[in-house]
Amino acid sequence: MKRIITLLFCLCGFGIINVASQTVTEEDFISNLLKQMTLDEKIGQLAQYTYRGNFTGPDGANIPKEEYVKQGKIGSMLNVTGIKEIHRFQELALQSRLRIPLIFGLDVIHGYRTCFPIPLAEAASFDLAMIEETARYNAMESAADGLNWIFGPMVDISWDARWGRVMEGAGEDPYYGSRVAEARVKGIQGNNLADTATVMACIKHFAGYGAPTAGKEYNSVDMSLGQFANFYMPTYHAAIKAGAATVMSAFNDFNNIPSTANDFLLNRLLKQQWGFKGFVVSDYNSVEELVNHRYAYDKKDAAAKALNAGLDMEMVSTCYLTYLKELIQEGKVKEKTLDNAVRRILEKKQELGLFEDPFRYCNPARSAKILNSPEIRNASLRMAERSIVLLENKQSVLPLTSQVKSVALIGGLSKSQNDMAGAWAATTDRSKIITLYDALLQKGLEVNYADGYDLKSNRMTDLQKTLQAARTSDIVLVAVGERANQSGEKAAKVDISIPEEQQRLVSELKKTGKPVVVLVMCGRPVIFNEIKEKADAVLCTWWLGSEAGNAICNVLWGTYNPSAKLPMTFPAHVGQIPIYYQYKSTGRPTSLKQTYTASYIDYSTEPAYPFGYGLSYTTFGYSDLNVLPGKSPDIHAEVSVKVTNQGQRTGEEIVQLYVQDKVASVTRPIKELKGIQKIQMEPGESKTVTFPITNEALGFYDNEMNYKVEPGEFIFMVGGSSNNLQQITFTLK
Ligand code: GLC
Repeated sequence: MKRIITLLFCLCGFGIINVASQTVTEEDFISNLLKQMTLDEKIGQLAQYTYRGNFTGPDGANIPKEEYVKQGKIGSMLNVTGIKEIHRFQELALQSRLRIPLIFGLDVIHGYRTCFPIPLAEAASFDLAMIEETARYNAMESAADGLNWIFGPMVDISWDARWGRVMEGAGEDPYYGSRVAEARVKGIQGNNLADTATVMACIKHFAGYGAPTAGKEYNSVDMSLGQFANFYMPTYHAAIKAGAATVMSAFNDFNNIPSTANDFLLNRLLKQQWGFKGFVVSDYNSVEELVNHRYAYDKKDAAAKALNAGLDMEMVSTCYLTYLKELIQEGKVKEKTLDNAVRRILEKKQELGLFEDPFRYCNPARSAKILNSPEIRNASLRMAERSIVLLENKQSVLPLTSQVKSVALIGGLSKSQNDMAGAWAATTDRSKIITLYDALLQKGLEVNYADGYDLKSNRMTDLQKTLQAARTSDIVLVAVGERANQSGEKAAKVDISIPEEQQRLVSELKKTGKPVVVLVMCGRPVIFNEIKEKADAVLCTWWLGSEAGNAICNVLWGTYNPSAKLPMTFPAHVGQIPIYYQYKSTGRPTSLKQTYTASYIDYSTEPAYPFGYGLSYTTFGYSDLNVLPGKSPDIHAEVSVKVTNQGQRTGEEIVQLYVQDKVASVTRPIKELKGIQKIQMEPGESKTVTFPITNEALGFYDNEMNYKVEPGEFIFMVGGSSNNLQQITFTLK
């Protein structure tokens, strides 16, 4: 695209081209700029430093940052927030010789000022349109406050709930995780990075960070290329195809080479095979950490290995700043390699429109109008309602009716704005978060509150007072779970059970004879077998953000009929992990009626709740499952099924299509999700849902990462949960 006049103005303004008649393409603009740059100025573009405090790790860059910005030795800052500060730093950048603007990045994981449900909760909605909408609002608020880049979406697939960062992702399934990745990239970036309502996305963490050995944070990742290609690679690939502007390298080593200096991942797969034209930023200090991995002798060796492997921008550590000039002079890094990294970064600054107007994102009036606006809060409420998973509803104790006048509310989490914000809502205005306690009061109910247990020790407190609150109320609501800071980064756990005394308290409350409804608040799948058995109803409410209390009340009283499903298996025992729905048959499947099968002698192989499971206040029937011929060459067939709302209440169903490749040239899972459709139906209404069967539904990667579709028999399965499906066979010629 040629923006001739504007670019010409820039070039003259930047003192790069004096001739007014030349037509200049964006390509030429970057090339001309690159030609003007000294080695120091080029290296400066590859440096990103943090500001004010150790947000996500120690700040090793002991340098005068403002001074270096003025000298053109820094290309980007992270953790600079607010228009005033961003404007100040940009002013400094424009004092440098070539006046190259900075880009400003921040972790906006589930909300900038308005807080949205944590990403894993949003994933439970299986509402891709809603997920794209909330991503768009996150970007809108971020851009309105001066940012041009957010470090998200995190697209790491994980089968291990011990790992705390499952909170940030979309769960265990590569097909669904890919659809969510696409939706979030589209929401964040829109169609034009120069639009002041959009910012750059950053796909993280490349690659395989969600599969750390033993679920231990930052631990090694070791998997076959076949395993990577079929289960972990798809979400990164989908995000790149959706146009993600940047990628962040992962802390972990990937098959014995740290991701931050992994030539196979960064140069060969991402840039050459996938044709990625954006740039790769390291994770926090992860270039210098090549020394800790014992993959680099020292920071100089780390700089050479990372840049030569395709790592374009170094976050926080100073290996590039300190050693790249020497390395180039010694011929250990080619200047062409440096130029390629610089070009990728400058092109994104240009796409953001920062050369034309370095202050385009600094508009206080726009910021005041957009941040925490009613429109954005309403989106947070709608997403929160759609994220709540109804797990148990015995004797249809829910939804509550207007007959309920008094509520025993048990558990300090029900009052905690901090916990409702979730694990990573750095810039959220917590004072504006609606807790369950607030929302119940606003409904005009009599609320008999009791702590029930100590939020720190998790020991039961004042049991008699708690039981008395229950006895004098129509219904008992108990908020149990983790603390919000017990998931997210550096929050891996060996025990993911809800504390024992919280569970025992529910059993004690049940003895009062009152209906007991339990709200499980968590940032990961958690285990609560005693509650599962004793409670009358259980809702997984995750961490729901600014409108948490209103969303929970709307679901409890049926204003919103819960529709969410689990995007990740909930184990029955931590010893089952990694546990996931797409397991393989093995040579001795448990379906064989014999003692020698793939199982445990001391526990079941079944999860507490499977992937794709979630209840509604109505029920849905499936009938007329059929396979029809494909209507075009790339559609081998169409699966159709009729879904009927059998209850008295309007509801939404997430219709799921799973596929089994009966026999293949590599071992394949017993089923894989290959389609979802969320539909709303009135009572008694039926709808026919159709799924196209393309190569993506039938194919797989072999151990050399070649994508294959093999003729033979397939089983198509359709239903409302991975463990409740009807099936039909199909033969691909
Ligand atoms: C953190 C995280 C990464 C984040 C980065 C910047 O350690 O791993 O997800 O974007 O550092 O804060």
